[in-house]
Amino acid sequence: MKLTELLGIDLPILQAPMAGAHGSALTIAVSNAGGLGSLGCAMLTPDGIRAELTAIRAKTSKPFNVNFFCHTAPAPDAQREGQWRAMLTPYYNEYGIDPQSIPAGPGRTPFSAEAADVLSEFKPAVVSFHFGLPPAHLVARAKALGAKILCSATTVDEALWLEAHGVDAIIAQGVEAGGHRGIFLSDDLTTQVGTFALLPQIVRAVKLPVIAAGGIADARGVAAAMALGAAGVQCGTAYLLCPETNISAIHRAALKSEAARHTALTNIFTGRPARGIVNRVMKELGSMNSAAPAFPLATSAIAPLRAKAEAQGSGDFSPLWSGQNATGCREVPAAQLTHDLAAEL
Ligand SMILES: Cc1cc2nc3c(=O)[nH]c(=O)nc-3n(C[C@H](O)[C@H](O)[C@H](O)COP(=O)(O)O)c2cc1C
Repeated sequence: MKLTELLGIDLPILQAPMAGAHGSALTIAVSNAGGLGSLGCAMLTPDGIRAELTAIRAKTSKPFNVNFFCHTAPAPDAQREGQWRAMLTPYYNEYGIDPQSIPAGPGRTPFSAEAADVLSEFKPAVVSFHFGLPPAHLVARAKALGAKILCSATTVDEALWLEAHGVDAIIAQGVEAGGHRGIFLSDDLTTQVGTFALLPQIVRAVKLPVIAAGGIADARGVAAAMALGAAGVQCGTAYLLCPETNISAIHRAALKSEAARHTALTNIFTGRPARGIVNRVMKELGSMNSAAPAFPLATSAIAPLRAKAEAQGSGDFSPLWSGQNATGCREVPAAQLTHDLAAEL
C-alpha cells in the first residue's frame, strides 16, 4: 500500500515532530496543506498534550501524527551530576549563577500510560516514536485506537527490529538530521550513516514503507529520496523558519546565518546525541562530552546558563538544533513550504 493511502494524506511529505520548537499551529498548517502535520510531545505534560490536540481537532479534520520519545528514565547519579556541574562552574561564575539553586530533574518525558489516556480521547491517525518503541502494552494501546505506528531507525539493524516489532512504516533517519538521533539499539555513533547511504539499504532490507529523513530541504531533495526508494519524506529543519514555529529569535538568527553551515552531534544539552549549530559551549566543552549526565538529566544543569545568556542576546549555551542542510529554511507559511517540497513529485 502506498504511504499516502496508509496514512490518509494527499502528499508524501511529513513535517517532522520537533518537541519544543512548535505547537499545534505547525501541525494544523501542514495537515491542512495535505501533508502529515506532527506534534512533538516530548516536552509537554499530559494536560499540555490535551490542549494542543484539542486545538488541532478544532482546526483540521485531516490526519495528523502525535510523536513521543520512549527512553527509559535513568536513575539519577549524584556523582556524575556533581562532576558535570563542576565542569560548568566557570560558566556559572561568569553569569553569577549559584549552582546550589539549580534543581535536578528530567527535561523530557517518555511515552506513558497517562499520555496513552490522552491519546484515547483524540484517536490520532498516526503515532510516531523516537528512540525505539515503548513497552509492548503501550504500543498495543496506540494501535487499538486505530493509529498507524511510525518509528525512526538510524541503522539497518534498527529497521529490521522495528519491522519485527510491528510498526507500520519506518523513518530512515540519516546522520544529517537535525535534533536528536533516534539511535536505540546501540550507543556507537560510528554506526550512524548519511540519509542517501541508509535509505536504500533499509528499503532493501524491509518490506514496510520507508520514509527518508535528514538533510532533505527542497523539492529536488524530496525527488531524489523518492528515486532511492523512499515512500515519503520527513523534513524538520526546513520548517524551522516558518511563522508557525516558536523557536527563539536567537535560534532563528543562527539558522539564517553562515553559522548554520557548521553543525555537530552533541550530548551536552540533554545527554543524548542531537545535531545543532556549533556554539561556544560545544566548542569549549567538546560537543560530545562523556561527563554529561544520562538523557534527559543533562538538561537541568545547562538550563540557567541558557536562560542568562539568551537574556543577553547570546546563543552560547542554547541548543540551536539544526540539520546539516539549513538551505531550505524559508520564512514562508508551512502550507506553502509543504507544497513546494512536493513540487517535483
Ligand atoms: C528542532 C528539532 C527538534 C526535533 N525534535 C524531534 C522530536 O521531538 N521527535 C522526533 O521524533 N524527532 C525530532 N527531530 C528529528 C526529526 O524527526 C527528523 O529526524 C529530522 O528533523 C530530519 O532531518 P532534517 O532536520 O535535516 O530535516 C527534531 C529535529 C529538529 C530539527
